[in-house]
Amino acid sequence: MCGVVGYTGRKQAAAWLLDGLATLEYRGYDSAGIQVVSSSGNLHGVKCAGRVADLRERAAAANPEGTCGIGHTRWATHGAPTDRNAHPHLDGSGRIAVVHNGIIENFQELKRELMATGHQFRSDTDTEVIPHLIQEAWEGPAKGDLAMAVRNACDRLEGSWAVACVCADVPGTLVVTRKGSPLVVASTDDGAYAASDVMPLADVTSHVLQLNDYDVATLTSDGAIRIVDRDGRVVDNPTSFDIDWDASAAKMGGYSDFMAKEINEQPEAIERLLKDRLGEHGIELDELSLSRSELAAIDKIVIIACGTSYHVGLIAKVAIERWAKVPVAVEFASEFNYNEDYLVTDHTMCLVITQSGETADTLAAARRMRGMGCTVFAITNVLGSTAAREADGTLYIQAGPEVAVASTKAYTAQMIASYLLALRLAYANGRMTLAEVQKHYRDMEQVPDLMREVLNRRWQDKQASQRFRDKQSSLFLGRNVSSTTAYEGALKLKEISYLHAEAYPSGEMKHGPISLIEGGFPVVAIVPADHVHDKTVSNIQECLARGAVVIAVATDGDEKIAKMCQEVLWVPQCPDQLIVPAVSVIHLQLLARYVARERGYDVDKPRNLAKSVTVE
Ligand code: M6R
Repeated sequence: MCGVVGYTGRKQAAAWLLDGLATLEYRGYDSAGIQVVSSSGNLHGVKCAGRVADLRERAAAANPEGTCGIGHTRWATHGAPTDRNAHPHLDGSGRIAVVHNGIIENFQELKRELMATGHQFRSDTDTEVIPHLIQEAWEGPAKGDLAMAVRNACDRLEGSWAVACVCADVPGTLVVTRKGSPLVVASTDDGAYAASDVMPLADVTSHVLQLNDYDVATLTSDGAIRIVDRDGRVVDNPTSFDIDWDASAAKMGGYSDFMAKEINEQPEAIERLLKDRLGEHGIELDELSLSRSELAAIDKIVIIACGTSYHVGLIAKVAIERWAKVPVAVEFASEFNYNEDYLVTDHTMCLVITQSGETADTLAAARRMRGMGCTVFAITNVLGSTAAREADGTLYIQAGPEVAVASTKAYTAQMIASYLLALRLAYANGRMTLAEVQKHYRDMEQVPDLMREVLNRRWQDKQASQRFRDKQSSLFLGRNVSSTTAYEGALKLKEISYLHAEAYPSGEMKHGPISLIEGGFPVVAIVPADHVHDKTVSNIQECLARGAVVIAVATDGDEKIAKMCQEVLWVPQCPDQLIVPAVSVIHLQLLARYVARERGYDVDKPRNLAKSVTVE
C-alpha cells in the first residue's frame, strides 16, 4: 500500500526520491508525489495521479531543487486517486509538507475542529489533518522544534501512521514517526534516509534502523539521526538490522517482469531455507525459542493468515496434523478478528504466516492471540517486519525480496518452512522418530530439482494458456492437498489476468459449480497420482461430459489423464504426497502469468491490489 520515502543530505533530493518511489511501486498505488525543500527555504512539490513514470516527467519539467525532501506513492482509501488527493499535503501556511501511510480514524472530528478555527482543506484525504495539526503545534507550544510539533500532532491521532514531514523554515531537517505502519531509517555518508521498507535503501546502505511505535526521528543533512520515544527520552540504541541481500536481488536482472524472476527463483529459495536445518536432534529450529518439553505440550495450533499465505496455512495444517498429530485450525485473519467466541486451550500456539509481515489483519489477529495467552510464532520473509518484531519467535523464509504483487516464491518457501515446523513438533512430542524426520527432510531436499523440472516444462503452460483466450470464467478442482493448490491457482489467475476463477474441492463440484460448465469452459483439474486420483478422474469425466476443456495437472506417466484431457501440465513423480503441492503449483503460477500476458496486463502490478495490505 502507500509508500513513504524521505531524504536529507548532500545530493539533490528529487532524483533519489523518485528512484525510491519506483522501488516502492510494488506495494501498489494509484498516485505519487514529492516535495523538496531548497536551502533558501522554499517548498517545491510535484504530484499526480498515475504512475511514478508520470511523476518523473512532471518533475523533469518542474525541476524541484533542494537536498531535503519527502515522497509518496498513494493507494487511495479516503478520496479518489486524483492529483488533488495525491500526497504530499500542506498546512495552511504552505510551509509544512507531510506524506502519510496508514489511516487516521478520527480525521473527521479533527477536520471539523480545525475548520472551526479557520483551517482550510484542499483534499478529501484523512492525511491532510496532519500538516494542519503540525502547524498548530509549530505555531503554538512547539515553536521552532519540528520534532516536537510532529509529536504533538500525532498525539491527537487515532489509527495508524507512518509520517514524514519537512518544513520550509528548517531546510535540511526531515522528521519521521510511525505507529502501526512500517518505517525504517538509515544514516550514510551521503545523508539520512527514511522509507516504508528496505527496498529503496538497498542501493545506499546495508544497515537500517527500526522505529518503534510513537518514536519520532529527526534526520539532518549530515546523516545524523536522533530518535526520541513517546515519553521524550532519547533512544540511544535503536533496533537495527542488516539487509541480507544485495541490491541486485530487487532488480529484474534480465527477466521481463518480477513475477517471472520470482517463479524461477523458487528452487534456490528452497535450497537456502533447507540449508543446515537437519541436525543430530532432528530439525534445527532455534528460532522457535521453545524448549522440547514446551513444544511437546502444545495441544492446539491456530494458523492466522490472509490470501496466498492462508493457502499455505491449509497445507501446513495437513502436515502438522499428519506428522505431529496436533490439531490445527486455520483462520482468515480478517474473520478471526471479529469472532468473539474463539476458544483456545492453555497450550495453544499461534502460527502467523505472512510474507510481508505487515498485513494489518494478520498483525491484529496475532496481537489478539497473544492477548489470549498464546505463544506466537511467525513465518515471514521480511526481516525486521512488524510480525517478526512482535512474535515470540520468527522463522525467516529467506526467499529474497518478492516484488511482484502475486506471491509465488514466498508461497512455496512458506510451505516448506511450515513443514520444518511440523517435523520439529513431531520429533519434540514423540510422534516421529529421528529416522522418520530424516526421511522427510531428504524428501524436501528433492523439491528444488523437482521444481527445476517443472520450470523446464513451461511450454506446456504457455500452450495451455491459449485455452483461456476470450473466456470469462474458469473452474479449478482438486482433492485433499490438491484442493489447496486449486485455490492458489485460481487466486493467481484472478489476481493478474482479471479472469474469474472459482476453486472447489472436486467432490463439491456437483453441489453447485457444475452448473457453470458449458461447451469450451476451462476447468483446471489437479490430479496427481495419489489415493484420491480416481475420484478426481470421475469429476473430470463429469466436466468433459458437459463440454468442458480440461487442463489437468498430472503425474508423469498417467496414461488415463493423457487420453482424457485436452491439455496436461506434467509433474514429475514426487517422493511424498506433501511434496506435490510445492511442485505442482509452479505450473499454475506459470499458467496464470501466461494468461495475463496474453491479455496484455502488467503481471507485476495488477489493478487495485497492494503488495502489503496495511489497512484492515
Ligand atoms: O504479506 P502477506 O503474506 O501477509 O499477504 C497476504 C496476502 O495479501 C497475499 O498473500 C495476497 O493474497 C497475494 N498478493 C496473493 O498473491
